[in-house]
Amino acid sequence: MKARIVVLGGDGIGPEVTAEAVRALNAIAKQFGHAFEYSEYPIGGISIDTTGSALTDQTLNACKSSDAVLLGAVGGPKWDDPNAKVRPEQGLLGLRKGLGLYANLRPVKTYQSLLEISPLKSERLKDVDVLVVRELTGGLYFGEPRVRERVNGYVRAVDTLVYHDYEIERVVKLAFELSRGRRKKVTSVDKANVLESSRLWRQTANTVKEKHPDIALDHMLVDTAAMRLISSPANFDVLVTENMFGDILTDEASMLAGSMGMLPSASLGDGGPGVYEPIHGSAPDIAGKGIANPVGAILSAALLLRYSLKLENEARAIESAVETAIARGARSADLGGTLTTRHMTDEIISHIR
Ligand code: IPM
Ligand code: MG
Repeated sequence: MKARIVVLGGDGIGPEVTAEAVRALNAIAKQFGHAFEYSEYPIGGISIDTTGSALTDQTLNACKSSDAVLLGAVGGPKWDDPNAKVRPEQGLLGLRKGLGLYANLRPVKTYQSLLEISPLKSERLKDVDVLVVRELTGGLYFGEPRVRERVNGYVRAVDTLVYHDYEIERVVKLAFELSRGRRKKVTSVDKANVLESSRLWRQTANTVKEKHPDIALDHMLVDTAAMRLISSPANFDVLVTENMFGDILTDEASMLAGSMGMLPSASLGDGGPGVYEPIHGSAPDIAGKGIANPVGAILSAALLLRYSLKLENEARAIESAVETAIARGARSADLGGTLTTRHMTDEIISHIR
């Protein structure tokens, strides 16, 4: 198979980890006889510095005409001024919206040999395998109006939490479909005891459930879900929720795996290229040191193979290579080890079969 992959390294450790994901993809291409072609474009802070915009038309158009996009991370202290007109994160949000990527898949799995590095008790972490499906193009992140204004001598800021039924329906439907290949249990997370948008979310989820009689659906309030992710994480199969709740819950859930550095994500829409990125940020404190954990990016490359290129065996080959490497003791700094980004990748690649 031939595929054109756009690589958006972005800021901080972003380019370091996407480079390793590309090496893993090349190992797969060699092993399985594929031809992957890469082209790099700027996004985020680096794009602001060179073009004045966090996401240029050139970058967005390149992504639109690709088969898939591999992304590193955006942001950093250099661009953090709250009064700045342009911010790196606008690049990421613009990309999600521009490609219509309404579903963000964030699988969280624990590795037996990493249980003790999690801040949580090992016995609670056994058999944890949660797929969080986060809505990605609605809610507070995109709602209008969004203003800062002076009213009666006070400064007032407004963000808007808005959802249409069709936005809820398509992402919940995807969660149901994904759970069919798993344990057939969807937990829809909302704040229906307070928010109108959450009541619509809950009703819409129930409507979708009617068309999926073989899948169990339960509803959970977001505060309860935050607690249950810590107290009984193994009980979750697929968790589907709105944009902001999903953002918060997935950082929390990453601690089940021991390190943010371990977790991949896939952002998908209806057809068109998906965007694949680790869930960690640009980690400016360790940028340039060559010690970032490449696993999140490499597992994102596995998701790219699975969802955009439909290469399931190749995706599994990466995932089991990561498992073997971890089981045999490969550890980057965040996992309490000493392997550099590059050596960690070498270990993983050596187990690709
Ligand atoms: C994430 C990040 C982004 C988000 C930021 C960088 C805008 O935290 O992908 O989870 O909030 O969606
Ligand atoms: Mg986040």
